Amino acid sequence: MAIPRSHSYAVVLCVSFSLFWEQLSSSPLNQRPIIGILAQEASYSFDKLGKSYIAASYVKYIESAGARVVPISISLTEDQYQKLFYSINGLLLPGGGANLKTSQFSKNAALFYKLALQANNDGTHFPIWGTCLGFEELTVITSGKKLLINTDTSNVPLPLNFTKDAKDSRMFKDFPVDLMKALAVEPLTLNSHRWSLSVKNFTNNTELRNFYKILSTNMDSQGIEFISTMEALNYPIYAVQWHPEKNSFEWSRKKYIAHTPNAVKVTSYMAEFFVNEARKNWHQFCNETEEKNALIYNYAPIYTENISSFEQIYIIDGN
Ligand SMILES: *[C@@H]1O[C@H](CO)[C@@H](O)[C@H](O)[C@H]1NC(C)=O
Ligand SMILES: *[C@@H]1O[C@H](CO)[C@@H](O)[C@H](O)[C@H]1NC(C)=O
Ligand SMILES: *[C@@H]1O[C@H](CO)[C@@H](O)[C@H](O)[C@H]1NC(C)=O
Ligand SMILES: *[C@@H]1O[C@H](CO)[C@@H](O)[C@H](O)[C@H]1NC(C)=O
Ligand SMILES: *[C@@H]1O[C@H](CO)[C@@H](O)[C@H](O)[C@H]1NC(C)=O
Repeated sequence: MAIPRSHSYAVVLCVSFSLFWEQLSSSPLNQRPIIGILAQEASYSFDKLGKSYIAASYVKYIESAGARVVPISISLTEDQYQKLFYSINGLLLPGGGANLKTSQFSKNAALFYKLALQANNDGTHFPIWGTCLGFEELTVITSGKKLLINTDTSNVPLPLNFTKDAKDSRMFKDFPVDLMKALAVEPLTLNSHRWSLSVKNFTNNTELRNFYKILSTNMDSQGIEFISTMEALNYPIYAVQWHPEKNSFEWSRKKYIAHTPNAVKVTSYMAEFFVNEARKNWHQFCNETEEKNALIYNYAPIYTENISSFEQIYIIDGN
């Protein structure tokens, strides 16, 4: 297990680590994990509601696996983001429509990614999960380039074409055999994106090839083979171009979301995998007050079925 270090390189940190050693001695895992979810600029129908939002399905996804959520605003200072990094146990980059290079979402993703690499290099396990836009953002950050190609994948449920690496991957190795079989033949993964990372561009890019291992691919209607699932070779960084959270938590009839028992199991196993990764991290807030004030429970979700394909969203930064 990673032995926590002093955070001498961090900017602002708290003094009290009261529960820390008690927790460490009584359990090898953090049983009160907290995941940060990046808010992103509100656009289209949401901009009247606020400046930034998080779709509630990502929150439910994390909560369903036994973790709590801290939303990450788009209007903090760099010092505040750094402090938050050392308070949370993992980061989720959700789907959506923020600009991959110029949005505050993209800047925050890059900052947390840098801090996560540093932490992991120093022996602190800090996981990052990217879904859809989050997947695409990770490819931009790792390669320093936008290597995406337009694909016919805006509302397409697909089975996964697993690579030979999937079976022994950290992500899938503990999945039940039956569920892996179902994932390989049933359309349990909703693709809801216009941009994809083709296997061609992945293979031709040194940074990407040296950083990630492809776990599954898919083909669009025009024959472009794109990466649907990958994990980093040497870091707890995971990315899915499809939407594991929607099967259980989104119900728009405009989207071909699977809700079968197997589809719901996919949501559960993916969420549990990531939350278990976060249980290996011991970052914590300075004290309970600070923790309570940061949690998503301070925000109330809004029912947005009539203006979007999300059932509910949280407004994180108001107008
Ligand atoms: C909690 O920690 C913050 C940051 O260190 C500090 O400003 C605050 O006074 C602390 N609150 C309590 C109740 O200890
Ligand atoms: C590769 O990436 C470039 C952008 O750098 C893009 O224009 C091109 O269409 C991509 N090609 C494939 C096959 O993905
Ligand atoms: C492969 O990447 C190089 C840059 O590293 C680029 O010049 C070349 O066009 C790419 N080839 C293809 C087929 O995308
Ligand atoms: C899986 O790969 C095969 C061969 O490349 C391709 O024909 C098929 O469309 C792919 N299936 C899916 C669901 O993407
Ligand atoms: C959507 O529903 C909410 C109430 O749930 C209502 O306040 C809002 O005006 C509706 N928006 C549109 C565009 O119909």
